[in-house]
Amino acid sequence: MGAARARLDQLWQRGREFLGAEAAIMGGAMSWVSERHLVAAISNAGGFGVLACGSMSPELLAAEILATKALTARPFGVNLITMHPALPELIEVCVDLAVGHIVLGGGLPAAASIAAAKAKGARVLCFAPTAVFGKKLVRLGADALIIEGTEAGGHIGPVATSVLAQEILPVIRDVPVFVAGGIGRGEAILSYLELGASGVQLGTRFVCARECIAHPAFKQAFIRANARDAVPSVQIDPNFPVIPVRALVNKASAQFTVFQQEVIGKVRSGEMEAKAAQLAIETYWAGALRRAVIDGDVDNGSLMAGQSVGMVTAEQPTAEIIGELIAQAVAALEVRLWREVAE
Ligand SMILES: Cc1cc2nc3c(=O)[nH]c(=O)nc-3n(C[C@H](O)[C@H](O)[C@H](O)COP(=O)(O)O)c2cc1C
Repeated sequence: MGAARARLDQLWQRGREFLGAEAAIMGGAMSWVSERHLVAAISNAGGFGVLACGSMSPELLAAEILATKALTARPFGVNLITMHPALPELIEVCVDLAVGHIVLGGGLPAAASIAAAKAKGARVLCFAPTAVFGKKLVRLGADALIIEGTEAGGHIGPVATSVLAQEILPVIRDVPVFVAGGIGRGEAILSYLELGASGVQLGTRFVCARECIAHPAFKQAFIRANARDAVPSVQIDPNFPVIPVRALVNKASAQFTVFQQEVIGKVRSGEMEAKAAQLAIETYWAGALRRAVIDGDVDNGSLMAGQSVGMVTAEQPTAEIIGELIAQAVAALEVRLWREVAE
């Protein structure tokens, strides 16, 4: 092994040990996208795949975990959304099926959920929006943290990955921290490792993996898009909040603005109750991700994507994507090592 690769392995050793993977690169769970095939492909390629439970029932989740285990002997994780009404049952399924790593996403998990997930030795990863919450999650039992910046695809917070990394990595040392959001190349992975991250999580970059079952039209939208096409959902009135979601601009996102104007107009004219309007706004996107990912309806579905979408230029085997990321990090380190020798 070359000196540069050895240095990379040293930099992400803690993440590799924690995940049980060759490369501390997590494939971020993406609802409908991160199912058995992509998850197994990422783990088989030396990364760490994470199944997205999304809105699955406990029975469906159990079947998906077993199907993934049939495709890979390597470790993989399961991402559960904390507001899922059957969260305790979903945790039980993961524990019973000896899932090694459980990621609790979509809001801050309760202490009881973390404890239940750890009942039989699974490691729990939680998303930390700030250093204060990160420390709290560690006190509650989180074994590792993920920090995800606003550049990411899907549901997002307001702060950039680079700022979160500077704020959180130097102060949280007790547990491994994985950085997500806007990562498209190996040099960026290296820079976060050098800031103190134990590994990274990428979502958008894996959508066009050959093994990913997303509809060809969904993949084409990613291949065509630039960073500036992946924008947060628009909220037109602070009295009617919209959960920010980063997605590619399309007919549905343009229509969402018109839809909000219409329902809020109805509230103002007394035709509609504010509560009903809020519910209508919240449910506008229901089923929309599935429509785009599975059915390929890229006009009327939701094209959740991060700003790194500009770096997705072709469909590629998963192993090639992971190989490229590692090669870019190694090449950057080689230049550094060469300079050290020359000086
Ligand atoms: C299409 C799509 C669906 C996603 N669904 C989920 C999800 O169900 N649960 C979750 O915790 N994160 C979800 N994410 C976020 C990813 O797990 C990951 O953290 C994020 O994509 C990383 O940022 P990047 O897209 O810039 O690589 C989703 C992202 C995308 C692009």
